[in-house]
Amino acid sequence: MPSIDIKNNISFYRSNISSSRCYQNILSSSDVEWLIDFMFKETGVYRLGSSGNMFFSENFEKIIIKFFDKFNEMIDLSEIVKVGGNFFLTPHQYGFHTDMPEKGDHHFVEGDVAFCTILIPLFHLPQKAKCHFMLFNERILSHGTTLDRGPSKSDTHYNSISNYDEIENLYNESGLEIKYEDKDFDNDLFEKYNMGATSPKERFNGFSIESVYDWTPGDAMVFDTTQLHCSNLGLKKELFKNKAGLRMSFYKNLKNKRDPIDWEKLK
Ligand SMILES: [Fe+2]
Repeated sequence: MPSIDIKNNISFYRSNISSSRCYQNILSSSDVEWLIDFMFKETGVYRLGSSGNMFFSENFEKIIIKFFDKFNEMIDLSEIVKVGGNFFLTPHQYGFHTDMPEKGDHHFVEGDVAFCTILIPLFHLPQKAKCHFMLFNERILSHGTTLDRGPSKSDTHYNSISNYDEIENLYNESGLEIKYEDKDFDNDLFEKYNMGATSPKERFNGFSIESVYDWTPGDAMVFDTTQLHCSNLGLKKELFKNKAGLRMSFYKNLKNKRDPIDWEKLK
């Protein structure tokens, strides 16, 4: 099977660009416990990252069936052909990246497009830690990309770019292609969210924040899979040591090369 074809579907990605949103308390604490249990017991595959991350995947259709009405309220599930993503258990903040499939991911067919991503915080420890998830205005309409300018690098298997003059397929929130411009990142936001604890400021130069959400178990954030985002390690003296979440990315097919998932049949 081929990797996802983004180049020939740019017009879909441009017209699909929309603002992120957060559904607060859409899942109860017992729903969240059910998901944590599912992560360990019901997923089919796990992978260990070299720096201490654990990823669990597969069987996401079961999760959607369990919470069908809630997910269907957040996004239109009627044309979904594929659900990808992973649960993650991590001691790290996440670098500056998009969630698009990597080039080496060959689980796609002609006409597949990434529709959107849902991210659900499951826990963070210690609970008093104040962690955040940040979404930027810019999108990269390309395979999964990590922006790594500066001395440190993030632990990723995505395409890593450290020379930002090489960034291609960069778009703004209105769907217009833009050329990378090296402008200072907002210093107040950089300080407020303690982003310097893990990332150099120049990593974010030329980019602007769209939204910042608290990492609250039971909330769900919906955003474009092409949208740049990152997380912080927490505020000063309120850092997390471990956290878990569920990311699910949803795909449609524009050429009817595969049928939408029949949710009614799976129920
Ligand atoms: Fe991500």
